[in-house]
Amino acid sequence: MNPSHDNQAAPAALVGAECLALLSLSAEALAALPPRLKDAKDGLRKSIQPQAAVAPWHMLNGMALYYVFQGQSQRAIRCLEMSLRRQYKQLAFQRLLIQLLKSAGRWDGYAGKSPLGLDIVDAMETKAALPERYHPELVGKIFDGLATGYDARVEQEQYLEDREVARVAQRCLKKGIVVADLGCGTGRVARLLDPMHRRSQRLIGVDMSPAMLSAAAEAGLYDQLVEADIFSYLRAETENIDVLLAASVLPFFGDLQALFTLAGCSQVAGSHLVFSVDVSERDDVEMVVTGRFAHGLSYVERCLAAAGYRIESCNPFSARRERNVSVPAVVICAVKLA
Ligand SMILES: C[S@@+](CC[C@H](N)C(=O)[O-])C[C@H]1O[C@@H](n2cnc3c(N)ncnc32)[C@H](O)[C@@H]1O
Repeated sequence: MNPSHDNQAAPAALVGAECLALLSLSAEALAALPPRLKDAKDGLRKSIQPQAAVAPWHMLNGMALYYVFQGQSQRAIRCLEMSLRRQYKQLAFQRLLIQLLKSAGRWDGYAGKSPLGLDIVDAMETKAALPERYHPELVGKIFDGLATGYDARVEQEQYLEDREVARVAQRCLKKGIVVADLGCGTGRVARLLDPMHRRSQRLIGVDMSPAMLSAAAEAGLYDQLVEADIFSYLRAETENIDVLLAASVLPFFGDLQALFTLAGCSQVAGSHLVFSVDVSERDDVEMVVTGRFAHGLSYVERCLAAAGYRIESCNPFSARRERNVSVPAVVICAVKLA
């Protein structure tokens, strides 16, 4: 999209790479700008104040860049916050916000770090401290955006985590038990459970994404679907959950100790936890290029033991193909000890 002479149209024209190109210009260079870009900048300035509250995300990015230009970083930060709340997936502008917050000395303790996904972007780039997990609000937005076409997409990736978790879980299922499918998504695991077993237990699906849950509802296989963060759900649950399932969910959690400890509090001795996990060669946790967490097997074992679980089985498999490469994973079945 090219910058326009029309002042009204100019701000919307300043999106993405063009904004960044503008940002990289010095004040002197700006003075020498070709007229069309200057017009765009003037149009942007005129439209900033009245439109901020209702402006679309790309216009807010233009505004943020204008303010950066003017040295008004606090205003730029506010525009970027609004923009990223409307559209979370904007790597260049997440990076810019991180940079502005760090330069302003506001990064440490900044409350929007996790909900805006800045902690994930920063961890991917600086390899500094890893976040404990994806913020649940962000997870909800990510998967609301992915829900349409999710099943087709994972099939294209040769996704097998649903099948492996369902296969291993099958042997833990008995008449009348309670099963919770954590991060149930569109209900793929439920679809793969043996219909005989499905009928003889109470199956609960838990997910943060309303769009994924409505796809799961269409499958009609769950007795109950709960829109909640997994942590909040496990904290609030008062009845024993005989089998907890989590297929392709742990890559959104860095700190597995917190997750397994909460799971352990919702299960009595003899209950099972069945999950898949992307495997790292390290002995702790890493964030891989896709922004997901991968966990070392010894780390997983330590966290399970500390939460009172014993591993019954651990089977390696290829979780899915990413950029044409198989992602190594394991499916683990752990039993809660007395
Ligand atoms: C990759 S999908 C897997 C879905 C499903 N288990 C499957 O095998 O197709 C991960 C799911 O976990 C959910 N999720 C991740 N973190 C969550 C959290 N903290 N609370 C609730 N749901 C979460 C996401 O919304 C998403 O639907």
